[in-house]
Amino acid sequence: MNRAALHKISYGLYIVTSGQDDKFNGQVANSMFQVTSNPATVAISINKENYTHGLIKSSRKFVVSILAEAAPMNFIGLFGFKSGRDVNKLQNVKTKTGMTKVPIVLENTVSYIEVELEKELDCGTHTIFVGNIVDGDVISNEEPMTYAYYQQVKGGKSPKTAPTYVKDEPAAASVGIAARYVCSVCGYVYDPVLGDSDSGIAPGTKFEDLPESWTCPVCGADKSKFEKEQSRV
Ligand SMILES: Cc1cc2nc3c(=O)[nH]c(=O)nc-3n(C[C@H](O)[C@H](O)[C@H](O)COP(=O)(O)O)c2cc1C
Repeated sequence: MNRAALHKISYGLYIVTSGQDDKFNGQVANSMFQVTSNPATVAISINKENYTHGLIKSSRKFVVSILAEAAPMNFIGLFGFKSGRDVNKLQNVKTKTGMTKVPIVLENTVSYIEVELEKELDCGTHTIFVGNIVDGDVISNEEPMTYAYYQQVKGGKSPKTAPTYVKDEPAAASVGIAARYVCSVCGYVYDPVLGDSDSGIAPGTKFEDLPESWTCPVCGADKSKFEKEQSRV
């Protein structure tokens, strides 16, 4: 099979929150889609190892916040590369509660939907959760983030727990003259062609010229954790 065929599938980027009784958490997911219109239902694919997986199973409800294109990498890094088992991800994030009482992430969000779980499908590493939308609203007219934008413009990667994870993902940006550097902690690739707009680093800035205070925009690792990318030819 030519796995590159799978790279042509389009997705958005979302924060899925869940939990109950003061035990709440959220994670990034790209695998979310509307299943039916009447009743309005959606499905998400969640890795069984994720802390969020257990919370959805026990509380039988979840909220999906549709992320804005402008969502910064450190925000995606917090929800997509760290686990609620280790950090309280919602601690410093603006949320509100609605019908399900699950925190609705409002930061970097264009709209949200609240869902009550109806069905589960065991898919090996992941479970597909299908649920009825019980409420939802639009909170901004900003452009929603697509997975392609996250990869191609922001230079973002996915961890092993994402359903779309690919080992040694192909280069997302053009091959520049200066070398790209890979974060050994989370896999983020610093591409001098793109720079790092979240940190005010202009396109064309070589890795060697980044200030020593610069840190990985996704996981916060310092410059010493970066390794020169091996030749992609
Ligand atoms: C771009 C991106 C897309 C992701 N998509 C999914 C997904 O669709 N399903 C999933 O289970 N994990 C996905 N992940 C991985 C989870 O967000 C990640 O494993 C997270 O740390 C789990 O957090 P938790 O243990 O607090 O639940 C994605 C991560 C990123 C960065």
